[in-house]
Amino acid sequence: MAKIPPGVGPRYPQCVVLFGATGDLARRKLLPGLYHLSSAGFIPKCRIIGVSLDEIDADGFRQAARGALDEFFNRKVTDADWDAFAQSLDYVPLAAGAPALRAAVLEAEKSFGGESRRLHYLSVPPSAALSAVRLLGEAQLVERSRIVMEKPFGTDLASAVSLNARLHEVFDEDQIFRIDHFLGKEPAQNILAFRFANGLFEPIWNRNFIDHVQIDVPETLALGKRSGFYEQTGAYRDMVVTHLFQILAFMAMEPPTALEPAPISEEKNKVFRSMLPIQPADVVRGQYVGYRDEDGVDSESETETFIALKCYIDNWRWAGVPFFLRTGKRLAEGQRIISIAFREPPKSMFPPGSGVGAQGPDHLTFDLADASKMSLSFYGKRPGPGMRLDKLSLQFAMHDTGLLGEVLEAYERLILDAMRGDHTLFNTAEGIERLWQVSSHLLEEPPPVRLYPPGSWGPKSIHQLIAPHAWRLPFERAWRNPDGTGS
Ligand code: BG6
Repeated sequence: MAKIPPGVGPRYPQCVVLFGATGDLARRKLLPGLYHLSSAGFIPKCRIIGVSLDEIDADGFRQAARGALDEFFNRKVTDADWDAFAQSLDYVPLAAGAPALRAAVLEAEKSFGGESRRLHYLSVPPSAALSAVRLLGEAQLVERSRIVMEKPFGTDLASAVSLNARLHEVFDEDQIFRIDHFLGKEPAQNILAFRFANGLFEPIWNRNFIDHVQIDVPETLALGKRSGFYEQTGAYRDMVVTHLFQILAFMAMEPPTALEPAPISEEKNKVFRSMLPIQPADVVRGQYVGYRDEDGVDSESETETFIALKCYIDNWRWAGVPFFLRTGKRLAEGQRIISIAFREPPKSMFPPGSGVGAQGPDHLTFDLADASKMSLSFYGKRPGPGMRLDKLSLQFAMHDTGLLGEVLEAYERLILDAMRGDHTLFNTAEGIERLWQVSSHLLEEPPPVRLYPPGSWGPKSIHQLIAPHAWRLPFERAWRNPDGTGS
C-alpha cells in the first residue's frame, strides 16, 4: 500500500452519518470511496452509520455495501480490509428517529476512545434535504460536525434561498460543504494549474483570441433506477446548473489572489455575476425516445434528458464570446470535454484548395476523464510538393506520467477535503443562488422538449444553436492512444 503523506487526511477519527445510504450515489461512489479512503489509510479511524428509508439492520447494510463494492469499486478488495470496513458499518432506519440516530453516533464515537469529528453526508434529493437537517438538529449531532449537501441545491432560486436560510438555523456556514463532484475531478483542478502556472496561455485567454468555447458532456447511460429522481430534476438541474457551470467558472475566472477558498470563490462568483440570464431561445431541450415508458416516468413527461444551450459572460475578458454547453443521457458517446476554439487568422496567402481552415479553427481541448488528456490542434504543412495543410495536434495523456494510480476519484478527494474542513473545491450559497437567478427565465418558460433517438447526439436543432460553428464531438480524429497508435 502506498504511504500516505502526513497532512493529507483529517487529524481526528471520523463518524460519518450517510443519509441515502442505500441509494444510487452511495452504491456507485460514496461507499466504494469511503472504503478506499479507509483501507488506504487516508482516514485515521472511521465509522459509518447508514440512514435511509429501507427497513434493514446493520448486517443488511453490510451486505448492501459489499454488493456496491463488488459492482462499482475498481481496485482490489482484500478480505482483511473488507472485514475491518464491515466492522465499521452500522445502520439506523430513518423511521427509528432522532434518539436511535443519536445513540448510534455516540456508540461509534465511544469506540474511538478520544476526540473525533462528525461528517453528515446528505445523499438525498432536494425535497428530502431539510428533513434530514432537522433530524440532525433534533438528535443534537451538530456539534463537532460538518455537513455535505448534495446537488442540486434547491430546485430554483426561491427554494435555494429558503434551504440556505433553514440550513443556517441549524448549521454555521463554515460547517456546510455544498458539493459538486466535477470540481473534485483531477482534470478540473488541472485547468487552474494549466492556466495559472504557465506563461504561455493566459495572455491569449480572452475575447481577443478565443472565438467560442464548448463544454460538452454527453453520456451513454440511461436513467434506469434513477428515473423517479430524474423525472423531478431533468438534465438542466442535474448537470448544467451544477457541474457544467462550475467547470465554466474554472475555465473563465480571473486569477485568484491565492489558491484558497475565499479568493477562489470570489473569482467564481464574479463569473456567475457577469453571466447574462439564460434565454429560452438559446436552449434546446430534448428527451430520448423510450424515456416515457420507463418505471416512475409520466407517460406524458416533459422532463428533459438532454440539454444544449448558449450563454454569455458579459465582462471585459469574455464579452461577446459564446459558451456552448451540452449534456444528455443515452447519447452516442460518453465524453467530457472542454474545447476552446481560437479565432482564425487571415489566410490570404494560402492558395485556394490548400486546406487551411477546412477542418475548423485551431483548438485547445481538455478531456475531463480521470485518465485525462489535453490536445492543442493546429494547421501544419503536409510533407511533399506545394503547400497543402492538414490539422495536426500536440497531445498529452495523464497515462504517460505513470501516475494514473495516484488519482483519487472525485468524491474521495472531496470527502477527504470536507473531513479536513477545506472549502476550496466547494460551492458557496451566493454562487448557487446566482446560478438559479440566471436560470429563472428558462425555468419559468422552458422551450418544448424535442425527441431524439437513443444513440444520437440529441435533437436536430442543436446544429442551428451552434451555427455558424460546429460541435467538436464526435471528433473527426480520435485521441492518440497512450501506446502511440491512433490518429
Ligand atoms: C451526477 C449526475 O451528478 O453526475 C448524473 O446526477 C451524471 O446524472 C453524473 O451521470 C456524471 O458524473 P461522472 O463523474 O460520471 O461524469
